[in-house]
Amino acid sequence: MKLVEEKIKAEGKALDSQVLKVDSFMNHQVDPKFMKQIGDAFAKAFHGKRITKILTLESSGIAPAVMTGLVLGVPVLFGRKKTSLTLQNGLLSAEVYSFTKQESSTISVSAEYLQQTDVVLIIDDFLANGQAALGLLDICRQAGAEVAGIGAVIEKVFQDGGRKLREQGVMVESLAKITALEEGEVFFEEEVKA
Ligand code: G4P
Ligand code: NA
Ligand code: NA
Repeated sequence: MKLVEEKIKAEGKALDSQVLKVDSFMNHQVDPKFMKQIGDAFAKAFHGKRITKILTLESSGIAPAVMTGLVLGVPVLFGRKKTSLTLQNGLLSAEVYSFTKQESSTISVSAEYLQQTDVVLIIDDFLANGQAALGLLDICRQAGAEVAGIGAVIEKVFQDGGRKLREQGVMVESLAKITALEEGEVFFEEEVKA
């Protein structure tokens, strides 16, 4: 599945050995037709998993998550990074430490929208060190919900998030796998299914 790889080759920019800029279609501007294809790809990858809910994190996870929810016909819940006025009671929370930003933040989801009967597909834009995904997994466990798997649009396999999640027995499907970045150059893993 070369969809994401081709898009990165056309529009992505490796800023350095760590960070890929994809502002033109995912992290600032969103390409809706491309995102719909992302939704189709995740729906296909997790076909037959009886998913009842998509869970993501604001803000850049929302676009791919909504498209996946559209295709699967299930609601999309996004974790908040700041508690809002209306988000007060029955919160499920997790601490997420960002190695990239070197700061910790609390992510929250209302228990009202995540229940024991749910089968959850976690979607995110990037899978790097996996801290966001681990926090969302923790929140699902607090809710007693089942996790069907994790879908990442772009996985940077040179960081260890994917390994940590797969070691826990979680199904992880990434639509593009980046093995290395150099300023101005992106290297992909040869065989990527989905
Ligand atoms: P982790 O959850 O996998 O441990 O990731 P990390 O802390 O390293 O990531 C912090 C933020 O940086 C996340 O966005 C993540 O999506 C983003 N990120 C990580 N690697 C890259 C990269 O190579 N390119 C880009 N463009 N973003 C990257 P966030 O702070 O949650 O912001 P938002 O975009 O969702 O609002
Ligand atoms: Na992001
Ligand atoms: Na994200």
